[in-house]
Amino acid sequence: MVDYPLLSSQAAGLLSGEPDALANVANFAAFVFAELPEINWAGFYFARPDGDLVLGPFAGRPACTRLSQGRGVCGAAATSMTTVVVDDVDAFADHIACDSASRSEIVVPVLSGGRTVAVFDIDAPILARFGPADRAGIEALVAIVAPFAVRLAETLAGRTANR
Ligand code: SME
Repeated sequence: MVDYPLLSSQAAGLLSGEPDALANVANFAAFVFAELPEINWAGFYFARPDGDLVLGPFAGRPACTRLSQGRGVCGAAATSMTTVVVDDVDAFADHIACDSASRSEIVVPVLSGGRTVAVFDIDAPILARFGPADRAGIEALVAIVAPFAVRLAETLAGRTANR
């Protein structure tokens, strides 16, 4: 049983001493990857102006760099602007397999101004890793990093080219 309130207070502490959005978003991904049992990847994708989701800070094996708009579990979460939990990725027709070891997945969108600016994705090597308590706990964790992810998304959106 994961103590999500403890993880939330630890995450808040981890992010409290540093104003830099990229540093905090990166450390948040590493923190979740280190602290949650039975997962094999944790990280961000950021929405680009063309709607694609592009890989951001993460921990785990190298992952797919660009997910076309609306595609995959990440795209479903981005489009619906709600958390998507997949108990068996093989049963989710549009799942994008970046690592064949992944069996279940949760994706939490980060919203700003009525749209999805990023998603936080966690993969697990076991089926049905993310129950209702995990969903609530992970959503609470993402709420802590969200202001930094929003600011990083704004910084990325200010880039002159959509590369
Ligand atoms: N499985 C995701 C793609 C991202 S990786 O899991 C890191 C999806 O279907 O959107």
